[in-house]
Amino acid sequence: MILPGGQPDSIDAAVRALAAGELVGLPTETVYGLAADACNDAAVARVFAAKGRPSDHPLIVHVASAAGVTKFAQHIPAFAQSLMDAFWPGPLTLILPRLPCVAAACAGGQDSIGLRCPSHPVALALLKACAEVGIAGLAAPSANQFGRISPTTAAHVQAELGQELLTLDGGACSVGIESSIIDCTRGAPVLLRPGVLTRAQLESACGCAVLERDAALGPGAPRASGTLESHYAPKAKLRLMDSESLKTAARLLGAELTASPGAPPAVALYSRASQSSPTPGLLQRRMPDDAVAVARELFSVLRDFDAAGVKLIWVETPPPSHEWDGVRDRLQRAAAS
Ligand code: TXA
Ligand code: MG
Repeated sequence: MILPGGQPDSIDAAVRALAAGELVGLPTETVYGLAADACNDAAVARVFAAKGRPSDHPLIVHVASAAGVTKFAQHIPAFAQSLMDAFWPGPLTLILPRLPCVAAACAGGQDSIGLRCPSHPVALALLKACAEVGIAGLAAPSANQFGRISPTTAAHVQAELGQELLTLDGGACSVGIESSIIDCTRGAPVLLRPGVLTRAQLESACGCAVLERDAALGPGAPRASGTLESHYAPKAKLRLMDSESLKTAARLLGAELTASPGAPPAVALYSRASQSSPTPGLLQRRMPDDAVAVARELFSVLRDFDAAGVKLIWVETPPPSHEWDGVRDRLQRAAAS
């Protein structure tokens, strides 16, 4: 059931469901989440089951404000506090040492906990209303089946998890890819998952270097779902290509493709290059020139390609600059499956 997220009645209904240990589809500025009371182990178990997610992959806890962190975290390093001051509410998750007595199931057994204060008005309204009835935080992984593309609309959530789920409609997500995750448990900040915040923004806020995951943690680092090599996958096979190879491939393919009337297109093209003339069997979407705009539409473009029934998705490799890190990361993982 989809309810308009902006209405007080909808928030009340969602709070009642969460207090009863049920799950709620939650809009955030990044992607939609599948929310449960973070301190209710049975509800948290339902989240893992609904997603088909292994129970040792920890969930992010969403809080109504920075003050909510003290309910879950043992202590807050100074650089983590600076990051919170700069980017909360917003698309940043901090991994902090967990208070041993809370949210163990939600943390997948780790002694740390991921915390984020989202900026979406519907998410904030729900988190505040939850806090008033004693629900200190909402565990909310992205509301998709494990390994699949994250949802950026309420309709995507229903397509992933079914019509029955109470889902608050907050419109299309403005950021479009998941939050940046910074591990704050190792003495220096370590970037576990890039998002739309650039490395320069993060470093200037915390006043120190932000380390790369692999360099800081080494190859034996714990595996986390958003950091698995293969993730965010459409049904079609996705391939990254530089713009020249992509143009050549499209030209060769254009000569070969003779789609019969009514047949679905075989290949989808998503590139920044200007598009060639319409070719039967070839679906084309122009990739915007700036990374923020691509992040906003990326997951829904991939879903559209799947819905059109293409077998192959060819995507132009994003530029090497840091502002593209989040988009490049999602595309590389989508291509790895
Ligand atoms: O933007 C987002 O972060 C979205 C929205 C709904 O807030 N949520 C999201 O959740 O992307 P999920 O579960 O799809 O990704 C959470 C990531 C996973 O890679 C998980 O392993 C990592 O956060 N994570 C959570 N807690 C952790 C912890 N204690 N230590 C290390 N990684 C953690
Ligand atoms: Mg996810």
